[in-house]
Amino acid sequence: MNLKDFWYIVAESKALTRDKVIAARVLGEWLALFRDESGNAVALEDRCLHRCARLSKRKAREGKLQCSYHGWTYNGKGSVIHVPSEGEKPKPKHAARTFQVCEIDDYIYARLSDSRDESLAPFRIPFYKTNGWAAIRLQNLFKNNVTNCAENFVDIPHTAFVHPKIFRVTKNERLTATVERKNGSVKVDYRGERANLGIFSWFLNATGKEIQHTDSFFMPNVTSVDYIFSDRRRFIITSQAIPIGEDETLVYTDLTYNYGVWNRLAKPIIRRQAQTIINQDIEILGEQMEVIKKFGAQFSNTEADVIHVLIESIRDALARGEDPRQLPDKTIEIEFWV
Ligand code: FES
Repeated sequence: MNLKDFWYIVAESKALTRDKVIAARVLGEWLALFRDESGNAVALEDRCLHRCARLSKRKAREGKLQCSYHGWTYNGKGSVIHVPSEGEKPKPKHAARTFQVCEIDDYIYARLSDSRDESLAPFRIPFYKTNGWAAIRLQNLFKNNVTNCAENFVDIPHTAFVHPKIFRVTKNERLTATVERKNGSVKVDYRGERANLGIFSWFLNATGKEIQHTDSFFMPNVTSVDYIFSDRRRFIITSQAIPIGEDETLVYTDLTYNYGVWNRLAKPIIRRQAQTIINQDIEILGEQMEVIKKFGAQFSNTEADVIHVLIESIRDALARGEDPRQLPDKTIEIEFWV
C-alpha cells in the first residue's frame, strides 16, 4: 500500500469552471486540472510534453488544453491532438500522464497511483446537502505536516489554551474516553462533557445534559469531530488534510450542522468563529513545525496523547508501505482534565 493509492481533494468543484485550468500539488505530484468536452474533470501531469512548459498556466477551450508556448493541444484523455508547427503532417503519438479523477460532494478528488482499490474510496462528508442540515466549507494552508495537523484537529487539551473562551476554558473537569484503533481508523468516545463549550454553551446545550462526543481519524488524512448536544443540535467538523509540499498542508474543513430553525441565522457566526479557531491553530502549528525543524520531533506523551500515538502508528505504517488495516485492534481507556 502506498499513500498515493488514496484519493485526495485537488479542488472544489465550483472552482473548476469551464475553460479554467487549475494547478494542484499533492505528494510531490504536479497536476493541471481542467474540464473536458463533456464537463468531466481531468487531471494531467502539469508538464507540456514538448519542451516542459507548465500546462496549468494556460486556459482550456472547448474541453481541450492548449500549451501557450508552442500551441500543442491536449484532449481530456491527455492525447496530443494538435501540433501547430507540424501543419497537416500526421500527428505524433504523444500522451500526457493522466491521473484518476472523481467528483463527490462538490470536491474534485485525484488518485496518484494506478490503484483501483475500491475500499479506499473518498471520504463522504456526513449530512452534506441533507435536508435539515446546513454546511460551511473552509480552506486553509497550514505550515506543518498532515500528521500534526490531524492530531491537532482531534486534540481536546489544547482547546482551552489556544482557543480560550471561544471553545473551552480551563475548569479542571475530568473527562474519560474510550480510544479504539481498528481497520485503519482511530475512534474516541468521550464521557463526562456537559457545559465547557465556550461562549455558546447556553445555546448548544441549554439543559446541561451529558453530550455525545466522538472524534475519529480515518486513514490517511481525514478527521471527524461529532457533537450531539440534543435532537435539535448536532455539529460535525470534517477535515481533510492534503499534503501539498514538504511540511505544507492544505486543509479543507466541512462544518455540517443541524440547529433546527437556527441553521441559517447561525451560519455567519459559525463561519467567523470557525475561521478564528483555525487561524489560531495555523499559528500554533506553524510554531510547532519551526521547533521540530530546529530540535527534531521528540514528544513527551501523557495519557491524553494516546490518541496521537495511535494516529501516528497508522501514518507510520502507511509511510512504510504497509496496510494499517492489518495493525492489531486496540482499545484503551483514558482520563484527563480540561
Ligand atoms: Fe508546450 Fe512547446 S512547451 S508547446
